[in-house]
Amino acid sequence: MKYKPTLFLAASALFFSACDDSKSTSEESGAKDATETASQKAPEKAPAPVKHPLPGDPVAGEAVYKKICTACHQADGSGMNGMLAANFVKDKTRLAKSNEELLKSIRDGITKDGKVMPPQKGVLTEQEMKDALAFIRKSFGAQ
Ligand code: HEC
Repeated sequence: MKYKPTLFLAASALFFSACDDSKSTSEESGAKDATETASQKAPEKAPAPVKHPLPGDPVAGEAVYKKICTACHQADGSGMNGMLAANFVKDKTRLAKSNEELLKSIRDGITKDGKVMPPQKGVLTEQEMKDALAFIRKSFGAQ
């Protein structure tokens, strides 16, 4: 005998309405959707907040920092609360920049809002600049 789809549909419709299952079915599928969305989002969340590897040797960098950078950025990295220089402690946007960007700033200097950071090109070697930035990252920012 042939399978009768109409009969089957009628039977299942009866079954669902009898259990008044329509509500819980939609809730279930809603929950399932949420789980799926969460598990789909998980891989995006997985990489921890942007981390920057230390570009050089923070121990060597400390000497460079104390000799040249402390004058403006201060020993505590606050740059006198940002009045003299970038405040590495409070202004998280600074160390959120890439090593490359920050090294460019150190190398070429910055003139902004009446504040000046003199270029270190020719004053420090490339390695000394990297070491100084490594010290700054290690001391004042998330690595
Ligand atoms: C004469 C003062 C002065 C000295 C010395 C100085 N800086 Fe700066 N530095 C500044 C100022 C001012 C800024 C912020 C300019 C601005 O508002 O963007 C700054 C910003 C920075 C930034 C952030 C750059 C960016 O792109 O946001 C870094 C990193 C930095 N300095 C590192 C150093 C290092 C390393 C040294 C020592 C080798 C040094 N600075 C020496 C004044 C100075």
